[in-house]
Formats: sequence, structure tokens, C-alpha cells
Amino acid sequence: QSIMMNLKYVSTLVLIVLALSTMIATAKNNELTPMSIKLALTQDVTQMRITWNTRAHGSSPLVLYDTQPFNTSNFVRLPQLEANTEHIYQALGGGWNEYVNTALLTGLTASTTYYYSVGEKDELFFSDVFNFTTAATDFNADVTPFSIVVYGDMGIWGGSQQNIQRITERVDDFSFAFHLGDIAYADLTSGSKDLGNETVWNEFLDMVNPITSHIPYMVCPGNHDIFLVDFDIYRHTFQMPCPVSDAWYSFDYNGIHFLSYSTEHLVTDLSPQHNWIENDLKNYRKKNPDGWVVVIGHRPFYCSTVWDYCNKDTYKGMSMIDSLEHVFYMYNVDLYITGHAHAYERTLPMLKGKAEYGTYDAPRATVHMVIGTGGNQEGPDGGWDEPAPAWSVGERLLDTGYGIFDFTNSTHLHYSFVNATTNEVRDEFWLTKGNW
Ligand SMILES: [Fe+2]
Repeated sequence: QSIMMNLKYVSTLVLIVLALSTMIATAKNNELTPMSIKLALTQDVTQMRITWNTRAHGSSPLVLYDTQPFNTSNFVRLPQLEANTEHIYQALGGGWNEYVNTALLTGLTASTTYYYSVGEKDELFFSDVFNFTTAATDFNADVTPFSIVVYGDMGIWGGSQQNIQRITERVDDFSFAFHLGDIAYADLTSGSKDLGNETVWNEFLDMVNPITSHIPYMVCPGNHDIFLVDFDIYRHTFQMPCPVSDAWYSFDYNGIHFLSYSTEHLVTDLSPQHNWIENDLKNYRKKNPDGWVVVIGHRPFYCSTVWDYCNKDTYKGMSMIDSLEHVFYMYNVDLYITGHAHAYERTLPMLKGKAEYGTYDAPRATVHMVIGTGGNQEGPDGGWDEPAPAWSVGERLLDTGYGIFDFTNSTHLHYSFVNATTNEVRDEFWLTKGNW
């Protein structure tokens, strides 16, 4: 009987030890659970950047990837790439405590679907398997057709949840997303203006994870993304194709040139950002005088909601129009797409406040668009200047929704704006390429 008692005792002990080790392993795995898995384009079509956050410092972060779907339990046979882990969030202070893991996949084949999982090799701990598809080409006078989804000013409350759900339902329609700044509104909770709110930031990243893990999520900074210091969290979270210290970059995708800049940093003559924008556009135009050029930023030059900045555009008292509009004109920028106004609006081809540069059929100046309709908690803007300025064409809308740009070929693009509640297309147009 005493042997039986001992056996019982030993087996209970074994069970307790097993349970404890499982708990410890689970706790560690929880700390290493990949959060906010994101794709970002680089300037090279054969690359993809993958980032994710963890609560703890993993000893062996890595990406598994293949051109076939796979089971992570077969991980030893799969192509693998070690990731770099930065403890940047803690280094930044402000109570944020996360690690950013980043890996740059190189040597990828064009127009190919890759399956991937991120995780920890030492712990044999991996995420679900996601997939993305690479671009057809980076620099090419001939456009390979593709579509992108575009919106700004989103956050976690208001209509954003509905909007994200609608975009997620059709995410396969889009080659990548552009979020036009004012990402999560993580500066609006009590006491978070300067330091940001990590919980809100992460909740937003969780909400968009079905998008960010499947198509590249390209961004520009907005005035609600400044925390901790000079957009540190924003810059390290999204890892755009520029030095992590910068907030402006360009890339080519299937024959279209995209330039994303920061309206939240100086753009005056001789400022570093102004010089960079001018050089980037000049260099592109030397290679491709007739290609489409799309500029992305947070603050509009032209809008007609009731806010002051629609009548007098300024950043820290200095006009962005005065600094940049003539540069956009000189290098034939076809579209300037922004948010900031919580509304939807577009203009005729514009220069110096005048709409005397033709129509959408081969315009002779830049067309401006505002798509600040992500659905944030501040709600839509309070109304419109009346009567509508002559340069404001199409529908002026206060809907929550998203824009879709279909880049058709070297002479035509199609645009539509979709209301996220009704799924209705509320505005659309064709733009033919203008060369001036
Ligand atoms: Fe804004």
C-alpha cells in the first residue's frame, strides 16, 4: 500500500512539475507572441520588409517563408531569415515597453505569392502562416495594372472599425494600402499627448493586422503621430523605405512613382526635406519624363471644409503651398493625395489657387484629393464652405470610407470612393495623363 501511496505522490508531483513548466513556457510564449505583423515595400521590387512586435526579447527571431503553403512544424526544411530585434520602445522611454523585430526578405521573384510565418527558432514558436504577392516591376515606362486602397485619419473608435472590416473583406483587390497619417489617435487619451498611449496604438495595429500582414502598409506621418519625440514610435513601428530617422521616402511600383513626405516637418526652401523632394522628383523625371507621379502627405493644400487650414494652409506658420506647389508643378506631379480634413473632396487641376489648367482629360497641373475619411473618433468635419469653390469638383462628402486608385496603364487611371457603411461608390472618375 505504501508503494501505491508513493506512486500516487510521485505522479502528482510529476503532474505539478509538468503543469508548472507548461505555464512558464506559455508565459514566455505569450511574451514572444508576434503582435502587429506588418509588410512594407522597399525601393527594390525583389524585397519585402516584415516587422512585428514582441513583449520580450527573443533569442532567435526569424521569418520562415516559401512559395508554397507550409506547416510551421516542418520549419527546419523551410527557407529562413533571421530578424533583427531592437528594444527601441523601451529605449525611447515614456513607459512603452516592446521590441520591434524586423527582417528584410531579399531576392524575391516578381509577381509571386510568398507564404510566411514569424516567430522564435529557439522556442519553436511561430505565428500563423500569412501570404503576400510581390510587384510585377519597379521601374518601367509601361504600367502593369494594379489597385491600391487609400485613407487617412482612422484611429480605433468612431467608424474606423466598420471601415477596416470593409477593407479587410476585399483586401485581395489591393496591391498595397496607403494610410495618409493620423494613424491611431494614440495621443488623445488623458495625459497621452506627448508620450502616446501604447494600449491604443497596439489596439489599432491589432485591428488592421489582417490588412498589414497581407499587403504592404505604407504610411505618412500626421499631426496625431508625433509621440514620443519626433514621431519615434511611428517611425520604428512602420519602418518605411528610408532611414528610420527620416519620415519621407519614394518608391516605384509597377511603373508608377510614389513619393510620401511629412507635412509635420519643415518643407521650406533649403530644408533637408525640401531638398530631398526636389532631387527625388528631378531624378525620376530624368529617367521617365512621362510617367505617373503620385505624392502622398497628410495636410492638404486645397480643401473647403470649415476649418481655418482649408483657407490658409500652414505648418508652424509657414505655407506648404509656397514651398512645394511650384516644385510639384515643375516636375509634373499628377496627383497630391492627403487627409487631415475629415472629409472627402477633390479639385480641378490647380496652381496658385487657380483652376485654369484644364480638366481631368490631360490636365496641365496637379489634381488634389482629400480622403481623411478613415472614421476617427473626432467625427467628420463640421461642414463645408458655401458656396463650394469653383475648383472643388465631384461630390464633397462627410462619409466614412476609403478610396481606390486603379492604375490602368500609362495614360489612364480610375478612382472610386466607397462608403464603408453602405458599400456604395459615392464618387468616381477617370483621369488621363497630363504632360505639361
Ligand atoms: Fe491631422
